[in-house]
Amino acid sequence: MQRKPQLVLVLGWLMALAAQTGRLPAQGGDFRSTQTEARVDALLAQMTLEEKVGQLNQLSTGSLSGPKQVVDNGDELIRKGWVGGILNAVTAQETNIFQKEAIGGSRLHIPILFGLDVIHGFRTLFPIPLGLSASWDPDLAEQTARYAAQEASSQGVRWTFSPMVDIARDPRWGRIAEGAGEDPYLGSAFARAYVRGYQGLRLDDPASIVACAKHFVGYGAVEGGRDYNSTEISERTLRGVYLPPFHAAVEEGAGTLMSAFNAINGVPSSANAFTLTQVLRKEWNFRGFVDSDWTAVREVMVHGIADDARTAALKCFNAGVDMDMESNIFLNNIAELVRAGRVPASRLDEAVRGILRVKFALGLFEHPYVVEPAASGLAATPAGDALARRAAEESFVLLENRMVGDGPLLPLAAGPGRKIALIGPLADSATDMLGSWSCQAVSGDMVTLRSALSKRASSGGMPLSFARGTDVSGTTDSGFPEAVAAAMGADVVVMALGESGRSSGEASSRAHLNLPGNQEKLLEAIVATGKPVVLVVFSGRPLSIAWASAHVPAIIMAWFPGMQAGPALVRTLFGEAEPAGRLTVSIPRTVGQVPIYYNHLNTGRPRVDPIGMGSDKPDPYYVTGYIDEANTPLYPFGYGLSYTSFSFSPVEVSAASVSASAINKGESQLTVSADVRNTGSREGTETAQLYIRLRGTSVARPVRELKGFQRVHLAPGESRHLEFRLARDELAFWNADMKDVAEPGSLYVWVASDSTQGTPAKVELTE
Ligand code: NOJ
Repeated sequence: MQRKPQLVLVLGWLMALAAQTGRLPAQGGDFRSTQTEARVDALLAQMTLEEKVGQLNQLSTGSLSGPKQVVDNGDELIRKGWVGGILNAVTAQETNIFQKEAIGGSRLHIPILFGLDVIHGFRTLFPIPLGLSASWDPDLAEQTARYAAQEASSQGVRWTFSPMVDIARDPRWGRIAEGAGEDPYLGSAFARAYVRGYQGLRLDDPASIVACAKHFVGYGAVEGGRDYNSTEISERTLRGVYLPPFHAAVEEGAGTLMSAFNAINGVPSSANAFTLTQVLRKEWNFRGFVDSDWTAVREVMVHGIADDARTAALKCFNAGVDMDMESNIFLNNIAELVRAGRVPASRLDEAVRGILRVKFALGLFEHPYVVEPAASGLAATPAGDALARRAAEESFVLLENRMVGDGPLLPLAAGPGRKIALIGPLADSATDMLGSWSCQAVSGDMVTLRSALSKRASSGGMPLSFARGTDVSGTTDSGFPEAVAAAMGADVVVMALGESGRSSGEASSRAHLNLPGNQEKLLEAIVATGKPVVLVVFSGRPLSIAWASAHVPAIIMAWFPGMQAGPALVRTLFGEAEPAGRLTVSIPRTVGQVPIYYNHLNTGRPRVDPIGMGSDKPDPYYVTGYIDEANTPLYPFGYGLSYTSFSFSPVEVSAASVSASAINKGESQLTVSADVRNTGSREGTETAQLYIRLRGTSVARPVRELKGFQRVHLAPGESRHLEFRLARDELAFWNADMKDVAEPGSLYVWVASDSTQGTPAKVELTE
């Protein structure tokens, strides 16, 4: 391998600094540190215009994620220093090969940053992000992200295109599966957790990978729920709903962001100077870099804001995209645009700085290669399995658990001779358990519900019969008789229905939200047998399961639970694990209700006013709503049952009035408290949710907004006193003057089990 002049130079600088200060400075770990900046400066000073532009170029190898712009001379580009990042290289062997070309072959030996969609695990697959968010346990998300980082980094993948922090209010949009649901407060908590998990305590820990908060911004608001579609979002909604999780990720230190495909109010996100420069860089002081989504730079031509690649490059780059994923448009145009004075040299330096900062902070210059494992590569581990199982268990949401005989159907009574029928197309489908983005998962590691239940049934002396009944999108009833016979011969039936793993995620929008194919017909046939049925729903989005909700005694929303789907479900069914998940998305009764979200505005004619204000006598007819359907969802945000029950005491607030200006100055805050009690006979976990509503303000505020939550594990009869803080961050909003402030008015506060429960306490917000 050739000598590395820039490394020698940097090492020399470090030694000189050490001599002055008596200790070695941190050699990376923080892309915002002055040490990193000095290294960036030193390297930037040596780079030619073409080498700088080369850093903006990101190529794909291996699996594709859209139309591929074929590059035949990739190796040559790497040796010229014209490739800054590569995506979709997945093994240590692959990343090392490319890295050797960059380090050994290019003049300045700048390492390549390898990125991949490590969305819910690398080899060890956890529940899809929407499922994980239902845990309301950001620490758990952090642990799964850390585990994924360790696995990915071992193969040289030091960058993940995760977390997806897009707020999604429309379950038709398939990518709702990849985020944390509909709420900006919860979404921000999860955004922070993922960043912490991926990036660890230091980025230059070889087991850390840099996060990429995506898709900046508003992608979750695509019209009609159609992926890649356009969005119309007011600045207030953008700032109040869609931007906060990105801001949280940036504050937590996310090194990169991905610019989205969608246009916002007519301007494509990847050419949007308002979001990419004004908000991200000027207001948030972001110091990392922005990667475009796949060919998003090229696509601005298709959007219609550029007639040629040169203009596309100009618009996207000047707006604030730093790295061009797969379009090859920056590489071919930016140098000339700089020479022509159309792109300021300072803008190029800013972009390259962001990329180099991240590479230095990751320690890539010191450790560009990874140790190549034996041919078998990574393997599942007991620790990974245990974490995957726990994550799956925490993601399950118990939607129904009605009485059957003397008690609720779940947990299932176990005992020798008790006959179980397992029915449904998803009971034994390993790959479907992963949902979209299965990364490096190996189907042999997957444990399905059928295999885990068979094991449990045989060890417990419980005869188990199995029938598929139909396919996920089945049209023929030919499997029904076998399924009905299995049900007839059983004491209890477990049904595994839902979507296929690939029905959500990218390019997987749906116009219907029902159980696909003839699955509901199968369900009806099984329920008609009179046998008690537990329905397990696998899905990457809320499904409108109104019939099931009314007729099936027990329903578990299982999302796509990952590789430990089976063991997690069996432990939950038999009560060794509790379903403690709570919905992070509203489940609609019917697709006609979407977009549907709990934190909507009240309107001047609400059908029901949650705090009994607004119209004195609501007219039964001239109110906002449908003539053929309720406004309320089938299951609301925050909802989920337990195997035990909980009660909440009345809410208490630390003061009956507080000054808004003192809140704004950070001189005052409120403490809100309530007691939560386990009123049942089993131990269990409740998620206490704090909601607010503001009235009398310069702009209308939502009927409820989540501003705090705490998970508490309680023994039967145990109660816990919970305290929450309401200060500037929780009470400020983008007002009529587009200022982010708390205003005088009335504040209503709930601490409750979901977004529809509880009685509020009232506080006056004075001048
Ligand atoms: C397109 C997707 O929108 C994005 O989320 C993903 O990270 C890239 N492809 C790379 O695979």
